[in-house]
Amino acid sequence: MQTEHTIAGIRAALAPRRKQGERIGFVPTMGALHEGHAALIRRARNECDVVAVSIFVNPTQFGPQEDFERYPRTLEADCALCEHEGVNVLFCPSASIMYPEGYATYVAVERLSEPLCGRSRPGHFRGVATVVLKLFNIVAPDVAYFGWKDAQQLILIRRMTEDLNLPIEIVGVETVREPDGLAMSSRNRYLDPESRRRAPALYEALLQARRAFEQEGVTDCSALAQQIRNHIAQHTGGRIDYVEIVSLDQLQPLTSVQKGNTLIALAVHLGGARLIDNIRL
Ligand code: PAF
Repeated sequence: MQTEHTIAGIRAALAPRRKQGERIGFVPTMGALHEGHAALIRRARNECDVVAVSIFVNPTQFGPQEDFERYPRTLEADCALCEHEGVNVLFCPSASIMYPEGYATYVAVERLSEPLCGRSRPGHFRGVATVVLKLFNIVAPDVAYFGWKDAQQLILIRRMTEDLNLPIEIVGVETVREPDGLAMSSRNRYLDPESRRRAPALYEALLQARRAFEQEGVTDCSALAQQIRNHIAQHTGGRIDYVEIVSLDQLQPLTSVQKGNTLIALAVHLGGARLIDNIRL
C-alpha cells in the first residue's frame, strides 16, 4: 500500500493507473476505521481495479462546540486495516494542504443540508460537501462509496455529484451493525458502558416501526415517529435530537409512508455520544 500526504503525490500515484484504463474506487473517511469502513473498502475492492482511501478529519464539518479536538485519531490501526483490506493508495493530507492560507470556497447543497442533522449541526453539510468535492477533484475516482448510516450525507453527495456533472458513480453501502444491532460508528467509543448497553434500543425502535408498517399496516408518520420516541425514551433515557420520517429523494417530511421512498432517521444524545441511525421503507 502506498501512502501519500500531498495532492501532487496522490495524483502521481493514480495517474498511471487511470492511463491504463483501470477503474478507480474511492472511500473517503475521517479515520478511526471500523467494520463499516471495511465493508466500503471491500465493495470497492470487488468492483474496481484500484482502491483509494482518504483519511482526513475535516475541520470545516465540525461546529465550534463539537468534537473536532477529541475525534478519535488512530492512524496506525487505520493503516493496518487498509493494508489488510487490500487498499492500494492511502491519502492522508494535513489541514493546511486541504485548506491553505486564504482558502475561501465552500459548497452549499441547498435544501438537503437543512433538515435532520443540518438543523442541529448548522454548517456541517457545507463542510462535508466542500471536502468531498475537493477530494473528488484530487482523487478523480470513477466510483465513490458511502455508507447508508449517514443517509443524509449520501443523498446530498449524490445530489451534488449530479448537479455539478461530476463523472463519478456514487454507491451507497448498507449500514454495518454490531451483533446487538447498534450501527457501527467511530463515535461509539464515546459511549460509557451503561449507555453502550442501552444504545441498541435505537435500532430496536426503528425495527419496531418497520414491523408496525409492514405487519400492522400503520402508515401514519406521526404515529410511527411517536412510537419510536416512546421506545427510545423508555429504554435509553437519552436526549432525542430528532426522530423524523421524510422522503428519501427530497428529505421532506411525510405524513404517510410512501413505500420505496421513505427514510426514518433519528439522532439521540446518549452518554457523551450523539448517535444517528435510520432505516428505509
Ligand atoms: O463520513 C465521513 O466520514 C465524512 O463525513 C466524510 C465523507 C469523509 C467527509 O469528511
